[in-house]
Amino acid sequence: MLAAWTTVLRRGEQGPCRAAGSMVAEPLPVALEAYTAYAAVNLNDPDTWPSVSALVAELSSLLRRLLGPWAAAVIPTGGGSESVLTALYAARELTGRDAVAASAAAHASVAKTARLLGMRLLRVPVDEELRMDVEALEALLEREGRRVAAVVVTAGLTDNGAVDPIAEAAEAAWTHGAVVYVDAAWGGLPLAATGRLRVPRGGPLLLGLDFHKHLVPPPSGALAASGEPLLEPLVFEAPYMPLGRQLGLPWTRTAAGLAAAVEALHRLGTQGLELLMERLYRLAGLMTRLGEEAGAEPLLPRPETPLAALRVGERLGEALSAAKRRGWVLYPSSVPGALRYVAKWCHRVSDVEEIAEAIREALRG
Ligand SMILES: Cc1ncc(COP(=O)(O)O)c(C=O)c1O
Repeated sequence: MLAAWTTVLRRGEQGPCRAAGSMVAEPLPVALEAYTAYAAVNLNDPDTWPSVSALVAELSSLLRRLLGPWAAAVIPTGGGSESVLTALYAARELTGRDAVAASAAAHASVAKTARLLGMRLLRVPVDEELRMDVEALEALLEREGRRVAAVVVTAGLTDNGAVDPIAEAAEAAWTHGAVVYVDAAWGGLPLAATGRLRVPRGGPLLLGLDFHKHLVPPPSGALAASGEPLLEPLVFEAPYMPLGRQLGLPWTRTAAGLAAAVEALHRLGTQGLELLMERLYRLAGLMTRLGEEAGAEPLLPRPETPLAALRVGERLGEALSAAKRRGWVLYPSSVPGALRYVAKWCHRVSDVEEIAEAIREALRG
């Protein structure tokens, strides 16, 4: 009865593939299968479901291969927001400091986390491509460094896909005793799989990346740490649970996203993942080029992560409507007058051409 009712409820709604402005992935069929198999398994109880421990171990080794040997410890999370909350909580506990520095273009979940944790958010200005201004960060740390628990840098900004100068920001952070958090929720997988991600060494670093933005259904992400001790504040007592302790912030949570991520990464293998991510880059590159030909102004000349952000100015509403008439949901960017196309593996070249045509039509008036 319920299944029929929810099926009716969803009628006419877009799937993730057509929601081309959203970062929710169209799941790979094998990932969906694994997701369903683990839907009712509690990730927080690996004593009752021992295969959860095997999945976590496998995720760790897959991520070490993907990100590099620096990723000494890995915990599964439910995505970008949980990763940043977990990382900033750990940084606050480890350093005993109460402020976080993040750029003005950092994802809104950083401000939300600072508010939840009662931390002061110190904003670092950005350049015209929304990248963190490292000189401004250095000046801020000279003034307030002793209070800063973590510096957040973004590998793939939500608004235009740009990557912050991670190594330079990390050096400044470490000079002042802060933990580095790399928010790679959006860009981590495509950047790492195609050899575009450089993670600096030399100090405490946490990195969050999501699987539900490219491959699997939500919630699915992971937090990687440059050393086991960084995760120590995340060990909590778990009275009445068989193990008596737990790692990470949420209590009961589904292991579905974890299983789906491991399955997807396994099936694709290193080469398959690289090919798939390169395909996303090509689609985003094509969207950038066709959007420009249609009269829009790309926020970045070439995508650094697989999304295209295009400035259409006052015609934004018309462009979103023209895309919608063709069955495509695009999102506005928080940059005024700009919209966002997120490349997905299920998109064809003709889909991108169709979206570009909608933009052309809107800009023609
Ligand atoms: C850069 C970045 N960080 C964090 C998040 C939040 O991730 P989630 O929606 O998985 O909580 C997003 C979401 O789009 C993002 O783009």
